[in-house]
Amino acid sequence: MMFEPKEPQKKLKYEELRIYTDEELNNYTEEELKEFKCKHPIPDVEDLEKGPWPSFVADAKREALHRRKLPDDRLLIGKYVVEDTLGQLQLSFDHGETHWKHGGIVGVFGYGGGVIGRYSDVPEKFPDIAHFHTLRVNQPASKFYDTEYLRTLCDLWEFRGSGMFNFHGSTGDIIFLGTTTEQLEPVFYELTHVLQQDLGGSGSNLRTPSCCVGKARCEWSCIDTQDMCYELTHYYQDELHRPAFPYKFKFKFDGCPNCCVASIARADMSFIGTWKDDIRIDQEAVQAYINGEIPPNGGAFKGRDWGKFDIYKEVINLSPTKCMWMEDGKL
Ligand code: HEM
Ligand code: HEM
Ligand code: SF4
Repeated sequence: MMFEPKEPQKKLKYEELRIYTDEELNNYTEEELKEFKCKHPIPDVEDLEKGPWPSFVADAKREALHRRKLPDDRLLIGKYVVEDTLGQLQLSFDHGETHWKHGGIVGVFGYGGGVIGRYSDVPEKFPDIAHFHTLRVNQPASKFYDTEYLRTLCDLWEFRGSGMFNFHGSTGDIIFLGTTTEQLEPVFYELTHVLQQDLGGSGSNLRTPSCCVGKARCEWSCIDTQDMCYELTHYYQDELHRPAFPYKFKFKFDGCPNCCVASIARADMSFIGTWKDDIRIDQEAVQAYINGEIPPNGGAFKGRDWGKFDIYKEVINLSPTKCMWMEDGKL
């Protein structure tokens, strides 16, 4: 590998980095949650909780209640930031238009990307979201984490931000949703100096490169997606942090044409692993499948009798290019 970290990589320990106690983290009951009323009436927003899918509104209410019950000096931005977000969403539904305004550029010293500036256009109604800037945090290749790291991030963002995340954006990054301008540098300092964690890309720069789980866990992988992603992320550090392009540009790496990170749909330059060799056939295994010694589909359908394995029906006839056939009992 060409790029090696310039400083030794620390193993983060939540116990050393944590901000909140267990009591502070678990500070409300399910009964209190049922009784919870948002500071603003939000009937249409609450309607979104009804469907069959988990709702961001239900999650936001948990966070809102949790913040309400924390003492004032345990939060560095507004206590009602979550409730104000929901309230403003209701107002947007009422008016049929957004109440977020594009306003100015915010960022951190030395970087031109990674922070997305956002302000409410009705700060008098929703003072805690007068500023609501988003940070992109560069995810590790294939998004491997341990809980020490995740809990440390959660504490940091609870303390200095809204406590709301998006894991992950379609970019791949961890998205920190909503904080004030004053908190940007402290969050950036904590991330980079303490957690050894960089910001990602936003605006007209190289967007955070992103890769599928690849050969770390996936049997289909034809290339080392993580290695490529890591390499190019480092090679183009300058382009990632200082927007110099007329428009955004993105690399994505898929280990095979299944395209799990949607490199075709969501990248300007897609790297997709393909097979390059003569086709190899394990004739013994083919016979074992035909004779039922190896269960089809890894045994996934064994709960029901699907009949005898039929190599024509289940394999050969499914080839779009008709590239397979049997000859003298051999594939
Ligand atoms: C809970 C609330 C929100 C969620 C879950 C959310 C989610 C996302 C996601 C998934 C992306 C794309 C990340 C990617 O590039 O893959 C994104 C980007 C973006 N969001 Fe949000 N978002 C939220 C709130 C907001 C709000 C309130 C605003 C505006 C006021 C906003 C403005 C933007 C903008 C401008 C970008 C693109 C920025 C760039 O790439 O330069 N988002 N958001
Ligand atoms: C008011 C109009 C629009 C707004 C506010 C808007 C906003 C955004 C935002 C915030 C993103 C970033 C999301 C992400 O990174 O995942 C985005 C991505 C994108 N938008 Fe739009 N958009 C608008 C209209 C359009 C239209 C009309 C098109 C094309 C017909 C378009 C095409 C795209 C594409 C291709 C992306 C990249 C999606 C991806 O990452 O896969 N947008 N847009
Ligand atoms: S794109 Fe291919 S190699 Fe990557 S995770 Fe998906 S199936 Fe596996």
